[in-house]
Amino acid sequence: MPDYRDSPGFLYLDGTKHSREGLLGKKKEDISGVEPFKVYPEAKKIPLPRPVLPTADIWQCLKDRRSVRRYSTRPMPLEVISSLLWATQGVTASLGGYLLRTAPSAGALYPIETYLCVNNCLSLGPGLYHLEVASGMLELLRDGDFGSELTSASLGQSMCQKAPVVFVWSAIPRRTMAKYGARGMRYIFMDVAHICENLLLASVALGLGACPIGAFFDDEVNDLLGLDGIEESVIYMASVGFPK
Ligand SMILES: Cc1cc2nc3c(=O)[nH]c(=O)nc-3n(C[C@H](O)[C@H](O)[C@H](O)COP(=O)(O)O)c2cc1C
Repeated sequence: MPDYRDSPGFLYLDGTKHSREGLLGKKKEDISGVEPFKVYPEAKKIPLPRPVLPTADIWQCLKDRRSVRRYSTRPMPLEVISSLLWATQGVTASLGGYLLRTAPSAGALYPIETYLCVNNCLSLGPGLYHLEVASGMLELLRDGDFGSELTSASLGQSMCQKAPVVFVWSAIPRRTMAKYGARGMRYIFMDVAHICENLLLASVALGLGACPIGAFFDDEVNDLLGLDGIEESVIYMASVGFPK
């Protein structure tokens, strides 16, 4: 039975440590970069309403946050989706060509793409959507009900079908790894965790409940979204809705 020390996880952690000697002497991997923004030019664009930004006590939100897996059948208003998207990837400043966001990103390289599986929302039909960050618009990728497929791809976690919306985050590793080499993969997972925590706290502030989801068959979710699983792959998800 392989031990922790023989596992790919440990080998990666150990192999990507910074050390004073290594940082100066070690040659970094030569990884070519890619475009910083993903756009689906053929997709129908859906402008988002101005986000609702309620006044909330950060300490109370931290105290109240809990993973919520059961939701009422109340549909999610589009303004609320807009607020959640803003909390996770809203552009809050522009600096030297970088679009700085509500969540931090190593080197301001933003390797995470945001997709939504919409099951039950007002003014937005069920389907799979992508957030076009620069314009702040949603792009419709596939029309229809995909909640049950997402549930099946998520080891049968029915909240993927019952939640009015599921956030699905993918990574385009080259964006970060072209600068940071293999160590950059660490940063990608840190980036997505910041994004998800923003979603979880914003959900509390808006009277919603959310649950992070790390258990899924990666390539089944990739197939659903049309991602190749190599240059871009799903790494995290979260369901959101009004608590039951
Ligand atoms: C990386 C990560 C992955 C998770 N994956 C799942 C998941 O697939 N399904 C689920 O029901 N909960 C998932 N959770 C939620 C945890 O079970 C939950 O955070 C934990 O039980 C503590 O409860 P709390 O969030 O209510 O404080 C995940 C949490 C994290 C941080």
